[in-house]
Amino acid sequence: MKVSGTVRAPGDKSITHRSLLFAALARGPSHVGGALTSLDAKSTARVLRQLGVAISPLREGQVVTVRSRGRLRTPDRTLDCGNSGTTTRLLLGLLAGHRFRATLTGDVSLRRRPMRRVTTPLAEMGARFEERSGDGLPLTIRGGALRPLRYAMPVSSAQIKSALLLAGLVGEVPVDLREPGGRSRDHTERMLRAFGYEVTEREGWIEFRPGGRIEPFDIQVPGDPSSAAFLVGAAVLAEAGELRIAGVGVNPTRTGFLRVLERMGAPVAVEADDVSFGEPVADLVARPARLEGTEVAAGEIPGLIDEIPLLAVVASRAAGETVFRDVAELRVKESDRLGLIAENLRAVGGKAEVRGDDLHVEGVAAPPRGRVRTAGDHRMAMAFAVLGALPGARVAVDDMACAAVSFPGFPRTLRRITGRSAR
Ligand code: S3P
Repeated sequence: MKVSGTVRAPGDKSITHRSLLFAALARGPSHVGGALTSLDAKSTARVLRQLGVAISPLREGQVVTVRSRGRLRTPDRTLDCGNSGTTTRLLLGLLAGHRFRATLTGDVSLRRRPMRRVTTPLAEMGARFEERSGDGLPLTIRGGALRPLRYAMPVSSAQIKSALLLAGLVGEVPVDLREPGGRSRDHTERMLRAFGYEVTEREGWIEFRPGGRIEPFDIQVPGDPSSAAFLVGAAVLAEAGELRIAGVGVNPTRTGFLRVLERMGAPVAVEADDVSFGEPVADLVARPARLEGTEVAAGEIPGLIDEIPLLAVVASRAAGETVFRDVAELRVKESDRLGLIAENLRAVGGKAEVRGDDLHVEGVAAPPRGRVRTAGDHRMAMAFAVLGALPGARVAVDDMACAAVSFPGFPRTLRRITGRSAR
């Protein structure tokens, strides 16, 4: 297999969600260029429309216009967040500071994901919750006046952190947070600073102070490094050629996968380009490499949490063993990713095992062959599609359509750069 060409990754999912949510808090029109147009991004737009925000259709290549009165309005129906954990958790933070009731739900995958990790600290701030079925959706929130919060988070998670910062923003109260392990993505902090808010870091605490105002803004969303990772993976596993992915966000809290690939023997060139809304942007240039296994330490996990399916697939083609330490968080992603990555690698002839909270992957040389179960998880589908593009591979992915959750047109892009695709 040979890779070639220059491609753009779709807009960053995390930054697109945040752009829409911040624009909903500004009085007047904001413009979001390069927005992701995937199903998850559409979920955020859909629920914000139900909350009284006018948002133009999310279409590839079109600037999205968001018109808001700066506050959200009582929704007349349940808010369906689809497959999107980020939509749900960040929205709960926004709603915590609004004095009305709203009920949130989602698809089968989202309904089983834990929500107490955000509702517990939000309740401490003063929001009230009614659960319907234990720790998950559907869930009703009633927001109102909020109290300041100083909270040591039990897990490193940008969704928890962002929900609490957004609650502080809307409720106009200070919020201090501490993450237990490595740092999770800091897009919310960067955006708040770009709006002139004080967000500082002191002795391991992230400290937000109210007192600013979100004005209407124009933003250009960089390409998503998590989507780019699948294309980088295809290039690294190829036999020849070179692939350039243009305009990718390279915020250091998102690029842990590049550091791991480098240790595995696959350096990816990062050709710096620009800074957009406090976010560095670059071209990534990836080429085939002879790969070796590595150990991915617990502290590195938050900086590559979404790239583990892809890295595990790459590790399955490397010489020796790769270990991902302390990856229990994978159990509560769009699927039980921890179990499913191992199961699917074995299903295509690989060697992988979960031991405690660690994932062990042993490299094999034989072409991958077998059937992959995605459980509707977009990143599982894309990771194994990359494996399916290898010479001699026969990988059947049960649901490729779910890739549209974060990467519209992924099968076409993969075909374009490799000339092959999974069946
Ligand atoms: C995200 C945070 C991460 C990540 C998700 C997007 C975000 O989730 O897995 O895809 O935009 O804040 P956690 O914060 O739950 O780790």
